[in-house]
Order: sequence, then C-alpha cells, then structure tokens
Amino acid sequence: MNAPSEVPALDIRGINKTFGGVQAIFDASFSVAPGTVTALIGPNGAGKTTLFNLITNLLPPNSGSIQFFGQSIGQMAAEKIAALGLIRAFQTARIFPGMTVLENVAMGAHRLMKVPAYRQMLLSSAARREERDVRRRAEMLLDIAGLHGERNRAASDLPMGAQKLLEVIRALMAAPRLLLLDEPAAGLNDTETAELAAMLGAIRDGGVTLLVVEHNMSLVMGVADQIVVLDAGRTVAIGTPSEIRNNRAVIEAYIGREDG
Ligand SMILES: Nc1ncnc2c1ncn2[C@@H]1O[C@H](COP(=O)(O)OP(=O)(O)OP(=O)(O)O)[C@@H](O)[C@H]1O
Ligand SMILES: [Mg+2]
Repeated sequence: MNAPSEVPALDIRGINKTFGGVQAIFDASFSVAPGTVTALIGPNGAGKTTLFNLITNLLPPNSGSIQFFGQSIGQMAAEKIAALGLIRAFQTARIFPGMTVLENVAMGAHRLMKVPAYRQMLLSSAARREERDVRRRAEMLLDIAGLHGERNRAASDLPMGAQKLLEVIRALMAAPRLLLLDEPAAGLNDTETAELAAMLGAIRDGGVTLLVVEHNMSLVMGVADQIVVLDAGRTVAIGTPSEIRNNRAVIEAYIGREDG
C-alpha cells in the first residue's frame, strides 16, 4: 500500500452542485490514493455521473476544490485535464460508428500523438512509426480484452457488452494516470464481467489509479480498495469493502428508510 503522506491522485474538497433549485451534489469530500481502485456507488440519481462531470469539468461546480496529483484542476478546460492524464469513459459507450473496432481503440491515443495531422497526411516516416506503435498497442489491448478477433468489424456491430469493453481500452490508449469509468459492467454478461474485473486489477497493478462508478456489487467488493457511497448527493460512507458491507447508512440508502 501507499504511504499515507503521499499526494493523492485525486482530492475533492467541499464540492457542491445545484441544477436549478435541486442540489445534486452536497459537500462532497474524499480522496483517491495513487495506485488504488476507488468504487463510487449509490442508488440511481445519487449524483455519481454528475460527480464525474464535475471532476472532468464538463460541468462547473458551484463551490469546492479538485486537485489532481496536487495540481488544482477546478478551473481547467476539459481537454487540458485530459492532457494531464485524467481520462474518462462514459456511461453510454461512445463508439465512432463509421470505424472498425481497431480504429476506435486507436482513436484513444490521439492526445499522445506528436506528429501533427498535416504531416500524418504526408505519411512521414515519424508518422508511420507512430501509427505502427499505436496499432501495436491497440492490438495488445484488444487481445487482453478478448476482442482481438473482432478488430476488423464495424464497432457499431459489436454487442453492448463488447462496446463497453472497447470504451475502457480506448481510454487506456490515452495512457491515463487516473481513469474514471462510469458503470463499465453495465450490459456485460457474467463472463465479460469476470474479464472486466481481471482487467481492472491488471490496470491498477500497472500503476493506473481507478475511480469506478458501478452497480455490480460483487465486482465492486472484489476489486475496490476503497468505496465511496453517495445517496441523494450526499457522501454517506467512505471505507473498505468490509467496512461498507455492514454500514447502516449504506443499507438504508439501498433499501430505503422505512422501519425494518
Ligand atoms: N445536466 C443536468 N441538468 C439537470 N439535472 C441533472 C443534470 N445532470 C444530472 N441531473 C440530476 O442530478 C441528479 C443526479 O444525476 P446523476 O446522473 O449524476 O445520477 P447517477 O448517480 O449517475 O445515476 P445512475 O445510477 O442512474 O446513472 C439526478 O436528479 C439528475 O436528474
Ligand atoms: Mg450515472
């Protein structure tokens, strides 16, 4: 494990967000240690995706601070945040429909490409080398995700589960330091979910920090080092899987507050 004094990969302090009169996020504070998996859980509408939108600055918070490896990213443009290595995959997989599976994965490397687009069109040797390297990495990740056999299919023809896996490995192509995944197991069958769990462990062991929104509790309990529980915009619990499993506020968030 990491020393407690280490700078967090992500540090969120006092984040508030209202939509009209509705408070979607209420004073959220937590941090994510480098090289760990944090699961963000909570009932539908709890504010999990909203929190991702705030972290990546697709939406501005009303107040609060967000630091990425000690650097304030609260006012930073979304592209700049991604360029620092804070990469996110969406709840609904965003497939480029006219492209193959392999081309979709390769697109994830875009932020790392050093050769400008106009020189790529001239196919300079540097551009060709870079393209070969991207292709090699994309094929390796497709292999790990069990999708290598599908690489030349149109991405839009893939089943939902495979599209979700594609979304995860495309995000990995950007060489993230911190990867945000929004319900990566949604739509996956049991075999795909087991593959995903193994992949998440491998990604973490490869040094990438993970913050994962997920409803699949066996996946969460199996891979998370820390769990943050949101309920109606409030952080109701933060702890290890075994601490969260028996936490009263968590059980209430999921089964309701009526007696019994
Ligand atoms: N852009 C927006 N404008 C207005 N209200 C929004 C917006 N985005 C989210 N909300 C509201 O904020 C609350 C939290 O929504 P959010 O999508 O973050 O929940 P969630 O925890 O991701 O839920 P789910 O598990 O269903 O994905 C909901 O009441 C939602 O309707
Ligand atoms: Mg959501």
